[in-house]
Amino acid sequence: MTDHTAKYVAAIDQGTTSSRCIIFDRNGAVVAVDQREHRQIFPKPGWVEHDATEIWSKVQAVVAGAIAKAGLRADRLSALGITNQRETTVLWDRATGKPVHNAVVWQDTRTSALCRRLGGTAGQDRFRDATGLPLASYFSGPKVAWLLDDVPGLRARAERGEIAFGTIDSWLIWNLTGGTDGGRHVTDVTNAGRTMLMNLKTLQWDPSILAAMNIPEAVLPEIRSSAEVYGTAVGQLAGVPVASALGDQQAAVFGQACFDVGTAKNTYGTGSFLLLNTGNRPVASKSGLLTTMGYRIGGQEPVYCLEGAIAVTGALVQWFRDQLGIIRTADEIEPLAASVADNGGAYIVPAFSGLFAPYWRSDARGVVTGLTRYVTKAHLARAVLEATSWQTREVVDAMYQDSGVRITSLKVDGGMTGNGLLMQHQADVLGVPVIRPKVSETTCLGAAYAAGLATGVWDGLDELEAHWTRDAEWTPAMDVSVRDREYANWRKAVEKSFGWLD
Ligand code: G3P
Repeated sequence: MTDHTAKYVAAIDQGTTSSRCIIFDRNGAVVAVDQREHRQIFPKPGWVEHDATEIWSKVQAVVAGAIAKAGLRADRLSALGITNQRETTVLWDRATGKPVHNAVVWQDTRTSALCRRLGGTAGQDRFRDATGLPLASYFSGPKVAWLLDDVPGLRARAERGEIAFGTIDSWLIWNLTGGTDGGRHVTDVTNAGRTMLMNLKTLQWDPSILAAMNIPEAVLPEIRSSAEVYGTAVGQLAGVPVASALGDQQAAVFGQACFDVGTAKNTYGTGSFLLLNTGNRPVASKSGLLTTMGYRIGGQEPVYCLEGAIAVTGALVQWFRDQLGIIRTADEIEPLAASVADNGGAYIVPAFSGLFAPYWRSDARGVVTGLTRYVTKAHLARAVLEATSWQTREVVDAMYQDSGVRITSLKVDGGMTGNGLLMQHQADVLGVPVIRPKVSETTCLGAAYAAGLATGVWDGLDELEAHWTRDAEWTPAMDVSVRDREYANWRKAVEKSFGWLD
């Protein structure tokens, strides 16, 4: 039953495939959830777009849905937090509020050639020192540059200050706080850090990178902390402070209470993202990881992370369902995979957007290897799931190479953690326990926590940490010789995915 005297915190999670609104109580428990999918637009091989206007209407619908399910009026909400798919790039007209082009999604590879050109003789690491990121089509800056060149007349309008750029957090905050009628054009450090335009040390836009990519400063939002009041919502949430923004993976760090140096989490969504808290200083990676923001609470010291970003994990299950039609629902993959004892020798490397960590190869494309007449759709279902755990293993190995710290367990969250077969395989191939918390909606929870901290709902991190409770744990059971042989096979399959592009 909803308590009508208590206060609640709402969070919006605008993800790659769907938008969600969750309302939490003071103990961090879920009161109501609403969720809607939006269209995935694939205009050419390697291109992925979203309609930002559709996203905004889906967000409004899920907010209305969650409030209705909770049986609350908006004035019972102490704060609203935002978390979002990162890097996805929206440019809109400040006067009309209309996007000038479909949003270019983080998975989109159209800027690969532009990234190679930008690297020049300095190569892929030209901006790594300043931004913590390799030049790759994943990040927003080159997407902005591409749009400014591609849409006729756009660059001149951008230079005149008529156009706004934002990642999805900015787009939502601008609309939530009034849009063309006084909307706030802001972003937070975690999202700004994924544009490749923010300097990790100054936490400001880097003028030399803007010049190199030919991006006018007039399009950029103001960079703020992850937990502070950016403005007050209008419309159905009128009066509610909009009080946090975090990229979804950083929000999950927060929701999993990874507040101490050395704590890590892995979120299994469209892709998978493993983040390790490295404290108040950025740690450079030599092993293909990203140096990225963790969070910044108001004026406090920023917290940094090392991140292993894997482009395709859950999206491979969707491909297996939608493009191949082998299963009808994502849930069907587990019983199908469990109907055989192993992968029958088959491996699938889902390099649909090139390969991200630890390789950063835009010339990689997906491969299926090890096929014989023996292989059935059940073996392929296993190979689909195992692709997720092997990619995670590669990232964990890179974390060890960079930090010298061996993880002793892994906190997990996200949709795929409902798949027990996968979680067992993950524990098997890592050789450490895999632990899922009770509130598996850690992304929304993290955004709600940050918004609640900014508005005094919660006093500090200790109080949030005390909410974290374990729900399920998988312990490693695979024979080490089997694991090592399988891993070697996986690495061979990965090698075959290289060298396919122009
Ligand atoms: O960097 C991309 C990431 O933020 C997308 O997350 O959960 O929408 O796949 P998700």
